[in-house]
Amino acid sequence: MIPLGLIRSRFFTHTPYRLMHVVTSLCNARCIMCDQWKKSPEQINDLSLEEIIKMLENAKKAGIFIYTAWGGEPLLRKDLHLILKYAKKLNFITSIITNGYYLKKRCDELMPYIDSLVVSIDSNDDLHDKMRGINGIKDKAIEGIKICSKYKTKITINSVICKMNVDKIDGLVKLSDELSVPINFQPMDVFGEYNEKYRLTEEDFKKILTKILTYKKAGYNILNSYQYLNIAFKKNHFCCHAPKCIISVDANGNIIHFINALDKKWGNVKTDSFKDIFNSKEFKQFLKESEKCNKCRYSCVIEISLAYSLNPRYLIERIISSRFSYL
Ligand SMILES: C[S@@+](CC[C@H](N)C(=O)[O-])C[C@H]1O[C@@H](n2cnc3c(N)ncnc32)[C@H](O)[C@@H]1O
Ligand code: SF4
Repeated sequence: MIPLGLIRSRFFTHTPYRLMHVVTSLCNARCIMCDQWKKSPEQINDLSLEEIIKMLENAKKAGIFIYTAWGGEPLLRKDLHLILKYAKKLNFITSIITNGYYLKKRCDELMPYIDSLVVSIDSNDDLHDKMRGINGIKDKAIEGIKICSKYKTKITINSVICKMNVDKIDGLVKLSDELSVPINFQPMDVFGEYNEKYRLTEEDFKKILTKILTYKKAGYNILNSYQYLNIAFKKNHFCCHAPKCIISVDANGNIIHFINALDKKWGNVKTDSFKDIFNSKEFKQFLKESEKCNKCRYSCVIEISLAYSLNPRYLIERIISSRFSYL
């Protein structure tokens, strides 16, 4: 069933329908591919529960109907269940992206309010703990997935692939199969110097895509679409529609884009309305211009753009698999 809000956004308003919110910038991990954990205590100024409630009401008025809490590590936020409960009260489709360390501990408190749970696992062996800089995180994430599976919540594994785990695709597909949880592969985005040394070579990237394609053809539950794998492999041009679909709010309340390449601040949820921003000439102009941007190979950016452009092959593929990538 396609949500009405999606039809409204795609055919009438052409404004974002999904909010990605850095619900906290605190993180318990020390990942080699993400520098989020490096924030100093002075830089941490997360929105309060009251401010988040106002933000959700503000977002609702602007036609946003999907709320994703990420971070930092969202499960470090003690009032996360209250945030998600309020989002559900406003009829948002809710999702979280977590490293899974505290999943078991918080499962019963959170799951009733989550429609889609994304757990990050980058290797099915000890390398995962090494990449995440925290002992035992792989086992905890897997245990958390097993425990959360008793709820109706849709669960997905997200694997970031970089130079360190190029050889771990087989193990990750096996893990997804054993857990009966679909898996999405995401090539690592390079944030300046921090993770440059783990950048995938072109050769490695193609090798990985070929492997993922082989597993997908063999019937494994891989979320990356054939269309994405093809575009990424051939480096084909795609028209980027991601900013028309997703808007992001950072931990301090700044309204930004979740794609690093689009370095733009539109306001702050403490003072500005999403609706006014979306209706501004500048925002509409920006959405038009970003269609030409082809800088990232993020699977979510390409998949969402294919869906938005009503690419017939993509739509047929998604209809057959009953999986749309609006979540
Ligand atoms: C920034 S994290 C925040 C949520 C949570 N702490 C976690 O790790 O799942 C959101 C997602 O981005 C992924 N990620 C982290 N660094 C990345 C990078 N350099 N390129 C692409 N994805 C990345 C994580 O693995 C995770 O699935
Ligand atoms: S990927 Fe997630 S767990 Fe790792 S440092 Fe970034 S925010 Fe923390």
